[in-house]
Parts: sequence; C-alpha cells; structure tokens
Amino acid sequence: MTQGTPPARTDGGKLPPFDPSVPNPARMWNYWLGGKDNFAADRQAAERVLEAMPSLPLIARAARLFLIDAVHQLATEHGIRQFLDIGTGLPTADNTHDVAQRAAPESKIVYVDYDPVVLTHAQALLTSSPEGQTDYIQADLRDTDTILKGAARILDFTRPVAILLIAVLHFIPDADDPYAVVARLTDAVPSGSYLVIAHAAADIAPEASQVARFFTGLDLLPPGLVPINQWALTGHIDATTGALVGYSAIARKP
Ligand SMILES: C[S@@+](CC[C@H](N)C(=O)[O-])C[C@H]1O[C@@H](n2cnc3c(N)ncnc32)[C@H](O)[C@@H]1O
Repeated sequence: MTQGTPPARTDGGKLPPFDPSVPNPARMWNYWLGGKDNFAADRQAAERVLEAMPSLPLIARAARLFLIDAVHQLATEHGIRQFLDIGTGLPTADNTHDVAQRAAPESKIVYVDYDPVVLTHAQALLTSSPEGQTDYIQADLRDTDTILKGAARILDFTRPVAILLIAVLHFIPDADDPYAVVARLTDAVPSGSYLVIAHAAADIAPEASQVARFFTGLDLLPPGLVPINQWALTGHIDATTGALVGYSAIARKP
C-alpha cells in the first residue's frame, strides 16, 4: 500500500490496542512537542513525567531537530534517496518525507510504528511528491522480518538506505537484545547505507555510553556520538541548555 488508501492493521491483534484512557508514549511525545493529538490521560501522565524531568519538551524538540538535520544532510551531502523511519510517532510539521523530498523529490520513505494511534494518522505520512513514494507499516521494531519484507515493497535493498531510529530504542528492554535488533537491520542494507540514532540515556559521558555499541562496525560521521543538544545545528536550541540527557549520531556502513 502506497499513497492513497489508509493502511490496514495486519498484525492479527498482537500489537497494542487503542485505549484513550491509558497514557500512550506516542501521544505523550506529541504533547511534549506541543501537538494536539493527545488525550487527557496522556497529558496528565506527561505532566507527571515533567515533574521528574522538566527538560523533556526540549529533548523531544532536540530529537526532531536532529532528525531534520540528519535527513537533510543525508539527502543533500550523501545522495541518500531511501529512508526507513522506525518509531515514527505522530505526524508533525517536518516529517521525514517532507525533509527528504524537499531536497530530493524522488526520495522513497517507509514509516514503521507499532502504535494503532499512529496508524490512524498515517494517512498524513503517506503524502508524497509525485516523483517519490511513501509507505507505512504497522510493526514492532523487534519484528525485523516483517519490517524488511514490508519495506521492500518500495525500497530497493541493493541500494543504500538510511535507517532512522529516533527516540525509540529505549522502548526495547535489554532482555529483547536491542543490539541484535539493530544489527539485523544494518545487516540487511548494503555498503553506503546509514544508521541514524537519537537515544535517551542516563549518563552524559558519550565514550562510556552503551549507545556507542549500536554503531559497531560502522563509521561515525562528524561530530561523532554526542549529546543531542550538540546537534542543534539549526540554532533553534540553546546548546548550553543542561540536562539534555540523550545521544545522537549518524554512521555509514563501510
Ligand atoms: C518518543 S516517540 C518518537 C517519535 C519520533 N521518532 C520522533 O523523534 O519524534 C517513540 C515512538 O516509537 C514507537 N515505538 C515504541 N516502541 C516501539 C516498538 N517496539 N516498535 C515500533 N514502534 C515503537 C512509539 O509508538 C512512538 O510513536
């Protein structure tokens, strides 16, 4: 399914159900980003989290700015025309296809999220320039077979692909081996592909961080694995702001 028809749920009910009375990460993130696609339960839970982590709206905004910068850089400087955006979240102002196709209209983008709320909004993700293409898959990040098979409907896996994992890996518990999940994805793309990660973290020493392990065997682009506020290249965020506890990096598969 590409532009036009709403995406259908294909998981046989295994993925999380829709319940507006239960706080939901995608809708809470939307609230921190200043969006309107959230319910009272999401807003209340988001406010409670803010009491413990008041910088979360800044982190959410910084993650979006990082995504925009990374996609723009990959499209304009590295010739990337295929993007696999996993843990997409609710549509916002500058979605991956907006940024990629502004730079290169022929770009193809596949979005993946396991949340039924994102599915209901996916129509907004499926607009595309006439030259390009977009698609949406409802799937769990851990189910890489479903993701790769679905993405192959429009992506050509013999050509470079940028895999985007923005603020989603922290949802995968260690018991589910997030490193193996990421390795299955990077193994499936050819040399010249890219891995882009923004990841919440509990410490602020990049070299000590376990986040670096996601990039094993890949070449980090400058400035390397850095606290996410250092990626505020667009100048929307004060890079001296403290407590932006997250890392970001772009790496190339050699
Ligand atoms: C914090 S939001 C980030 C959204 C977007 N990437 C951004 O940076 O604005 C995390 C998203 O990942 C999705 N997500 C969480 N765990 C997931 C999983 N195991 N598989 C697929 N999507 C997942 C959530 O539904 C949510 O939409």
